[in-house]
Amino acid sequence: MGKYHGNATTVLKPKTTQEVSDIVKWCHEKRIGIVPQGGNTGLVGGSVPVQDEVIISLANMSQVRSFDPISGILIADAGCILQSLTDYIAPHHHVMPIDLGAKGSCQIGGNVATNAGGLRLLRYGSLHGSVLGLEVVLPDGTILDQLTSLRKDNTGYDLKQLFIGAEGTLGIITGVSILTPPSPQASNNVIFALPHFDNVLPLYQSVKRQLSEILSAFEFIDRTAYDLAVKHGQGRALSDEDVEGAQCFVLVETSGGRREHDEEKLTTLLETLLEADKPLINTGVLAQSPAQFSSLWALREGVTEAVSKEGKAYKYDISVPLSTFKECVDVTREHLRSKGLMREDAVKHVVGYGHVGDGNLHLNVVADTYSSEIQDALEPFIYELVASHRGSVSAEHGIGAMKTHALHYSKSAVSITWMKKIKELFDPRGIMNPGKVLE
Ligand code: FAD
Ligand code: MLT
Ligand code: ZN
Repeated sequence: MGKYHGNATTVLKPKTTQEVSDIVKWCHEKRIGIVPQGGNTGLVGGSVPVQDEVIISLANMSQVRSFDPISGILIADAGCILQSLTDYIAPHHHVMPIDLGAKGSCQIGGNVATNAGGLRLLRYGSLHGSVLGLEVVLPDGTILDQLTSLRKDNTGYDLKQLFIGAEGTLGIITGVSILTPPSPQASNNVIFALPHFDNVLPLYQSVKRQLSEILSAFEFIDRTAYDLAVKHGQGRALSDEDVEGAQCFVLVETSGGRREHDEEKLTTLLETLLEADKPLINTGVLAQSPAQFSSLWALREGVTEAVSKEGKAYKYDISVPLSTFKECVDVTREHLRSKGLMREDAVKHVVGYGHVGDGNLHLNVVADTYSSEIQDALEPFIYELVASHRGSVSAEHGIGAMKTHALHYSKSAVSITWMKKIKELFDPRGIMNPGKVLE
């Protein structure tokens, strides 16, 4: 993002859990701050030192420890890149339960540390469910070995859950045991062009009802996001006729057991939608080949990259009621306009996209530069808007360095007090990713 800058002089790249433990023990003794770093793809500045902490990169811990093709349980070093794990288990007919645009760089340890959501959460649920065990180096260097591969284990407190989404503030994840589902026999996708945002929710209802068990993604991009994706070469543009009059787009993916069955369901869905008295969609483009399947996905997955090519992105990753997605984008744009900031040399676009199925809107403001004037116009405005809907200021990207001051909009004072007690218990010297998550 080019937004966060630290002053670290040292990056250490241990190769084993024991080496991580030795380094952490030493830092603990000397009270030296540590920043765990995975693929460095996080969007809230969590992996960047705020002062001169030592960076511990997991990049050299990238071995698969075991994979059981019967149970689908994968045990891997935390530094394994998500795409490599996907490739590793593919010949065994399994897929990773998580998928995101950063898959070529992000690491499984980083995914777990951020409790990343991504494009498959609708189908496979959150990492709180699929992670079975973790190996973690605690802030005093102790190795906590909870790398179990048990599906069921009700033996008291489930400590691993604390590290999922802790963003490296409670310890360094060195190993991950994760349940991987069997690969779908067939995957299809279709992109719908909609005349109004108001049609997204009824469409979601119809799609869920008609596709039921084969629905695996329901992703939303507004017109501005689509135009930016096309402008910056992400995926292949739909025809002019298909996009004419479209206010937004929805990408639907199916993952099922039998190609003919799934195709029939999708075709029937498309026909029903197009033949309705008041159609919810202008048109739907069904992928006809694996290349077109990828190209449709690229239009959605490529928005992040397109936005950063267009300018500097102020990124807000929020959970709000689905019905308010468009309102949140429009209200923010109007607010910036009222401040005189919607102009070529300040804010160029206000963009909305995200995971409808998860109630997660990505509200991005694209500007010429990062400036305090724009920042002050956006915050606390957006956080107050989210709080007014009883939403979350961070649906899936985490708090990192960006939102420590905004935590209270989504967490009660009592929750924050107990989070601080947990942090104090694990890391009384405050060396583990200081300045992140908690102020
Ligand atoms: P990093 O960025 O290196 O670190 C992220 C945080 O985790 C930091 O606080 C760091 O200290 C900590 N950390 C990293 N590794 C460890 C470890 N081994 N032990 C303890 N702490 C650790 N996020 C989503 O949720 N959903 C998406 O759909 C999504 N799409 C993205 C698309 C693009 C193009 C990009 C650039 C980012 C996207 N992200 C998404 C954000 C990001 O990719 C995820 O948060 C990812 O899980 C971060 O993994 P990483 O290995 O890059 O972690
Ligand atoms: C996405 O859904 O594309 C990611 O969370 C990244 C982003 O918000 O830009
Ligand atoms: Zn996302």
